[in-house]
Amino acid sequence: MRKNILAGNWKMNCDLSQTQGLITDLKTGLVKDFNCELMIAPSHPFLYNAFNSTSDTLIEVVAQNVCEAQNGAYTGEISVDMLDSIGIKTVIIGHSERRDTYGETNELLAAKTKTALGKGMRVIFCCGEHLEQRKAGNYFETVTGQIEKGLFDLTAKQMEQVVVAYEPVWAIGTGETASPEQAQEMHAHLRSFLETKFGKETANNTSILYGGSVKPSNASEIFAKPDVDGGLVGGASLDAQSFLDIANAF
Ligand code: 13P
Repeated sequence: MRKNILAGNWKMNCDLSQTQGLITDLKTGLVKDFNCELMIAPSHPFLYNAFNSTSDTLIEVVAQNVCEAQNGAYTGEISVDMLDSIGIKTVIIGHSERRDTYGETNELLAAKTKTALGKGMRVIFCCGEHLEQRKAGNYFETVTGQIEKGLFDLTAKQMEQVVVAYEPVWAIGTGETASPEQAQEMHAHLRSFLETKFGKETANNTSILYGGSVKPSNASEIFAKPDVDGGLVGGASLDAQSFLDIANAF
């Protein structure tokens, strides 16, 4: 069965004391069970601290990125072994900010995904089209192309460890959200595309998250769509109350 997941991508925000403060606020607000898995992705320097501070909660701490190589001369990179050694079991791969600002290609993202899965980690694999592609009407091809190049070398068994996050780039940090219908249309399309490669059962069991200006005010109607299994949230995850209000939307 696929799971509802709410993941907060903190991006390059929060120093150590802000990270600790946000986690304290989240823990204070965790007064009930939510109908979803909760994940937070602080910056790399604070993962160990965040992992330890949340070990008595159901919040999972996940990484925002990982290197495709195992170890060695890769200045500035972080390996799966390093993440694993501090308890991190899930990593976000292929965020549009990694693709667009740091030139991460589909081929590199496929390699990162295999490396993470090889270590037994779970992957949140991001995809999404730019505004021009949406306007030109080729957004399905764009997004399925990212999925095909990033994930279609995997086996169905490996795919069980992958969560897909659809994040239309035009909706990230802009305040403009895809409508629930636009999200559902893409998610259903992605699920049937996954089915062509991995079969119906795996496709049905894959959680597909929506990301792009998710807020407490729009989360319920987006999450109510049958193929939307949760959210990958940026800005609104930096405030504990708004993140928990979004979690309440399931
Ligand atoms: P916002 O929620 O700030 O639009 O960011 C979405 C995102 O990029 C999450 O990975």
